[in-house]
Amino acid sequence: MMMQNIDRVLIESLKQRRQKLANLIDFPAILWSGTNSPRNFANNVYPFRASSHFLYFAGIPLPNAAIRLDDGKITLYINDASPSSALWHGETPSRDEIAETIAADAAYPMDELRSQIDGAGTIAVQDAATWTQQTQLLDRMVLPQLPPSGIDLELARAIILLRVTHDSGALAELKKSAAVAIEAHKAGMRATKSAIREAKVRAAMESVIIGHNMTTSYNSIVTVHGEVLHNEHYHHPVQMGDLILADVGAETPTGWASDITRTWPVSGKFSSTQRDIYDVVLAAHDACIAKIQPGVEYSDIHLTACGVIAEGLANLGILQGKPEELVEKDIHALFFPHGIGHLLGLDVHDMEDLGDLAGYEDGRSRSERFGLGYLRLNRPLRTGMLVTIEPGFYQVPAILNHARSQYHYLINWERLEQFSDVRGIRIEDDVLVTDNGAEILTGALPTVANDIEKLVNC
Ligand code: GLY
Ligand code: MN
Ligand code: MN
Repeated sequence: MMMQNIDRVLIESLKQRRQKLANLIDFPAILWSGTNSPRNFANNVYPFRASSHFLYFAGIPLPNAAIRLDDGKITLYINDASPSSALWHGETPSRDEIAETIAADAAYPMDELRSQIDGAGTIAVQDAATWTQQTQLLDRMVLPQLPPSGIDLELARAIILLRVTHDSGALAELKKSAAVAIEAHKAGMRATKSAIREAKVRAAMESVIIGHNMTTSYNSIVTVHGEVLHNEHYHHPVQMGDLILADVGAETPTGWASDITRTWPVSGKFSSTQRDIYDVVLAAHDACIAKIQPGVEYSDIHLTACGVIAEGLANLGILQGKPEELVEKDIHALFFPHGIGHLLGLDVHDMEDLGDLAGYEDGRSRSERFGLGYLRLNRPLRTGMLVTIEPGFYQVPAILNHARSQYHYLINWERLEQFSDVRGIRIEDDVLVTDNGAEILTGALPTVANDIEKLVNC
């Protein structure tokens, strides 16, 4: 059958999720999966990625489908494939077979959805074609990327409450994804010495992911220009003296993500300046993870990283002043201009399709401060949350050129120039909050500079 099976643990979790949602809302929810958009003709499509909210309750990526969740029951709406589709896509399981796979209570063709829509809440899908269908059927405006309102807001809050911590089905998948991403990073390190361009390192990494029948959970970042936070070009030559920053994660066939960054020297040996900065970033990474436990504010974890980075850069003579004062003035953010991380789950920035509803505790909003405004998560940590910890150091010309005229006392620009072989360093791990502290799901991939060098040299 041309459809993956769902393992027993995930099926049990799916049933529990459907029931838990019923305990939180007293109206039905209808969630669309989305469609696979054609590149230029109907049978040549972009890779399909189902809506994560759909995946959370349905379990598998089914294009052009919808589910209705009501009182703990799930009804699947999907059309049987047309006879001609077998020519291009092979035999497709019937609606009833799919319903059985996902443990649905009933299944109907898509047209039947129209009569079941009254009084239902929904979440806006991301693709324009499905969104148009969704808006027309509901006869009201739901907008992707904007906070919902009315019952849609109530539904979003209920789904966030469920998805913000992970059940056993999710954790089993997240761990599989982490394990494959770890292997991908090791392969990237091993491939570096013989690589001529970034693309070769990327290929080595993604080949591990593809070889496990997974996909990347976002566009891989594999670059000698680590100062470009989401650099998605792979054409630069890889040269002795460069650092490679690789931010690469895997996604399981049921949609669960990992998100890892490592930075390593192309030559197999960090220069002394690279190692100095690397160790500052690593100290921030370690200090943040050591603080993780239920009840701790994630914003305090971010501030921990800011403090360690400010202190480390001051010790190296790059910054001048007391770490607390440097952080208060956002000087650290000139070199660490992003938040310490984000929620991770079915999406790499989990649930950010709902704006800050998931990331920010009720009543909180983004800070106006340069050093805090990019924080994507501002909640107290809870057991079962999976977050990334990803401090970094970057020399972004646009930021530093602007700062140069402003900060004569707080930054020793001459000293900074000695670190010109450090464009960007980030170290990112996926950390599960547990009852007692934290479990680093990606912890089997070394972070210490000597160990990274060994992996590059092996
Ligand atoms: N991979 C994107 C991020 O780390 O946020
Ligand atoms: Mn991340
Ligand atoms: Mn990342």
